[in-house]
Amino acid sequence: MSEKPDLGFVHRFVPAETPGHAPLLLLHGTGGDENDLLPLGAQLSPAAALLSPRGKVNEQGMPRFFKRRAEGVFDIEDLKARTEELADFIESARKAYGIGKPIALGFSNGANIAWSLLLNRPETLAGAILIRGMLPFDPPSLPKLDGLPVLMLNGSADPIVPPETSERLVETLRRAGADVRYELLPASHQLTQQDLVLAAEWLRGR
Ligand code: MLT
Repeated sequence: MSEKPDLGFVHRFVPAETPGHAPLLLLHGTGGDENDLLPLGAQLSPAAALLSPRGKVNEQGMPRFFKRRAEGVFDIEDLKARTEELADFIESARKAYGIGKPIALGFSNGANIAWSLLLNRPETLAGAILIRGMLPFDPPSLPKLDGLPVLMLNGSADPIVPPETSERLVETLRRAGADVRYELLPASHQLTQQDLVLAAEWLRGR
């Protein structure tokens, strides 16, 4: 087996089984790592390549993709810098592994860095599945997302995501021109079977 290139992030890469499927960029939640979402990615898009980095921020032993000051209070400067760093990693990984533009599959903190990629480095993604994402502030400017497909899955009983922050995220992405399908599920912050069914169905339609 050839050695894995050092692209600045600890990561896992699983090559595609058959060509013709958009690679998935797997972005874990707080306290997860690069291994967490691999089974989910393989289940949702069995033949696709999977690229799964580990967030570089360490919050009391829990990996994250950017710093926060408190639950739901993001460190916006850090989010910006980490978004650039992750976008550069995606570009390098695409070259190193010879893969196309990925669709992000982000859960919780991973969904939040995924929308930040969409708003700040939209050229890096072919689409996104944002599970339990939130936008706690109004972004200063919006890119042109030109119909970029986004699936947003949130829970109506999620104690971590206030409803106004998920609604702001849908509205912001739509205002930027993304083609957003938004589903508010009877769920909490955890993944449910319904999330998996909707995500698999949405991916099949891509
Ligand atoms: C975040 O910080 O990204 C959100 O609060 C979700 C979380 O990671 O708990």
